[in-house]
Amino acid sequence: MAGESREQWNSRTGFIFAAVGSAVGLGNMWRFSYLTAENGGAAFVVLYLLLTLVIGLPVMLAELTVGRGAGKSPIQALAHYGGPRWRGLGAVFVAAGFIILSYYGVIAGWTLRYAGEALVTGFADDPGLHFRNIREGSGAFLFHVFFMGATIGIVAGGVKRGIERVAVIAMPALFFLVCAVALYAATLDGAGAGYRYYLNTDFVNAWSLDVLVDAAGQAFFSLSLGMGAMLTFASYLPRESHLPNESLLIASADFGVAFLAGLMVFPLIFALGLSGDVSESTLGALFVALPKAFAAMGAAGRVVGLLFFIALVVGALTSAISLLEVVVSATIDGLNWSRLQSTLVMGLAITALGAPSAWNIGFLEVMDKVANNLFLLGGGLGLSIFVGWVMKDPTGEVAVGAEGVPWFGLWRGLLRFVVPAFLIVVLWNSVPATLRAVWGLISAS
Ligand code: PHE
Repeated sequence: MAGESREQWNSRTGFIFAAVGSAVGLGNMWRFSYLTAENGGAAFVVLYLLLTLVIGLPVMLAELTVGRGAGKSPIQALAHYGGPRWRGLGAVFVAAGFIILSYYGVIAGWTLRYAGEALVTGFADDPGLHFRNIREGSGAFLFHVFFMGATIGIVAGGVKRGIERVAVIAMPALFFLVCAVALYAATLDGAGAGYRYYLNTDFVNAWSLDVLVDAAGQAFFSLSLGMGAMLTFASYLPRESHLPNESLLIASADFGVAFLAGLMVFPLIFALGLSGDVSESTLGALFVALPKAFAAMGAAGRVVGLLFFIALVVGALTSAISLLEVVVSATIDGLNWSRLQSTLVMGLAITALGAPSAWNIGFLEVMDKVANNLFLLGGGLGLSIFVGWVMKDPTGEVAVGAEGVPWFGLWRGLLRFVVPAFLIVVLWNSVPATLRAVWGLISAS
């Protein structure tokens, strides 16, 4: 790539769709609704919204600022503003991309399989047993390989012809599917009970430290923050883009879809009285309770279930693209590889790294914890300190294309004090438990 000018988005809409595509994914559809239901319903939604605005939004704007300003992938972008010492943080970002995609691809593979089954054979009669049968082993790995193949193919196409072209079709389609399923769910008899379970307000349970830790990890994961995904996408933006508006738009879309996902999941589950299957695990709701509901609804269930799992696959795909792009852009800029070579080598390495997760769900769950609670929150802390304290004139940099935004001063203050203090408290409380989980995994094997 040396000597060629950097790739760019075709249009502002293209960038927005790609960034929203990165944010909206399995995190919205799978974990948000579960966390909400378990942790105090509407009270959790309020807490989560606050976190998105006060912590997530400033970090998002920080990533976009560094990415667009430097016009480089994470490692080079941080070195551009902070000197070579900061390359380490960029390397942590790239490592996070590797780790997250390796297990994310396995979960996405399950959804792909469920979508295929809905189409060809219908949902299994005993989804609990079915899920236990398919979640681990060579079948799980095979579908992970299919999913990664699609991801690799799209990223190899480049920023405009691959990522952007897919995002501008996929995101409106996903939004349409989610709305359609939520509307259908609203017509079911037990819908009211579902909404009540989802949004039953319980401030006592919601406002505890444990819940705060989960909510913070979820916010970073869902907004794709703390590992350079937004930074990388912003590096393909022209200078005239209005970064504060873009951040707000991306964060709102992400929150909106997460909230909508709950409105589709719970009425479906409650209409058939399957709430007992939900509390088992986060994955239980998605891969056991919902398929059970779809199976019980006959022909309509099969169609709605198919649409639902297609939406999941689409959401997962546009997120996986951004995870792979972080790693690929790092090798294009850092090693001077061509896009094709980078995508193939890195994509295949990540696919292979998915093997332990595909064969062992305990491993997958620990990777998910490590990624959220160590890498993303730690990466977010590093980035907020970087932009808050190290980068020379971040406010001047955002102001390009966006003069006179009233909350610039507030933004810098949040990044310097509020975000780091908050993340230190959260990490202080989450790191020991995460390390214990890692240790448990090591000693069990
Ligand atoms: N935001 C994506 C989701 O909610 C996951 C993701 C995390 C994507 C980090 C990119 C970077 O599913």
